[in-house]
Amino acid sequence: MDVSTSLEVTGKVIVITGGSGALGGAMARHLLKQGGKVAILGSREESVSKKLQEIGTDENLIGMVADVTNEGDVQKTCQQVMEKWGRVDVLINAAGGNLPGATIAPDQTVFDVSLKDMRTVVDLNLMGSVVPSLIYGKIMAEQKTGSIINVSSMAADRAITRVIGYSMAKAGIDMLTKWMATEMAQKFGDGIRVNAIAPGFFIGNQNRRLLTNEDGSYTDRGNTIIRNTPMDRFGEAAELNGVVQFLCSDASSFVTGTIIPVDGGFSAFSGV
Ligand SMILES: NC(=O)c1ccc[n+]([C@@H]2O[C@H](COP(=O)([O-])OP(=O)(O)OC[C@H]3O[C@@H](n4cnc5c(N)ncnc54)[C@H](O)[C@@H]3O)[C@@H](O)[C@H]2O)c1
Repeated sequence: MDVSTSLEVTGKVIVITGGSGALGGAMARHLLKQGGKVAILGSREESVSKKLQEIGTDENLIGMVADVTNEGDVQKTCQQVMEKWGRVDVLINAAGGNLPGATIAPDQTVFDVSLKDMRTVVDLNLMGSVVPSLIYGKIMAEQKTGSIINVSSMAADRAITRVIGYSMAKAGIDMLTKWMATEMAQKFGDGIRVNAIAPGFFIGNQNRRLLTNEDGSYTDRGNTIIRNTPMDRFGEAAELNGVVQFLCSDASSFVTGTIIPVDGGFSAFSGV
């Protein structure tokens, strides 16, 4: 058997949900630069167009608008990608987010949570990865090749205060990753891999309010995170790109079902 150690992604068709966001956008920019054919998917026309403008016109870059929790919407984007490029090599499930009502404020308890917002957050973060995985994963099953990369979180396996719905959904992402990795390998062969990255703390739109004050200084929560991160800083979005490229590439041909932390040591540290 010929084993490739190549990190090349040239010509690979890569769909990034949440590609209009901070982390997904950084991945899109990088993978495009590396020669990938990249489709970014976001929920709002304006943010998708803005991201396309930021990255710059390129024949290998397209934008798509869809709600990741809506099967019909996602199916349409899949048809669009198939019509343009005829295959799908990588799906990165980076769409996600939180809502104020699903977050417990410092003066609240869990009994104050809005169940409506909690359901929305679980739906977005969990089913919003399940739906694209089933639709794009089906194409991969037919092709017998493909790589799905989910985005987990430090909130998935230990309780991080305040973000209950988000944490529950991210814990679900970890099991989705292991379950789909097993299913795809056993039923569709060793050409399909399913992994997750678990970012530590990166300041983005959805957590800026929790981590920084208006003047840019860190909140108490921001300082607590830094104290528990051995590298003593937040991550830069581009620091996810190396591991993402590895998981897109043939160099990770025997890697499936893993959840890889990219966290400056947060998950390794006891806090003492
Ligand atoms: N920023 C961090 O520190 C951090 C840490 C761990 C995990 N994450 C995860 O990384 C992913 C990206 O986070 P980010 O910081 O880039 O957030 P972001 O808010 O900048 O981007 C989120 C993206 O998801 C898209 N989105 C939201 N709802 C959608 C829907 N219903 N359908 C389609 N697209 C939708 C938005 O359009 C946006 O492009 C999320 O899953 C987040 O939970 C982030």
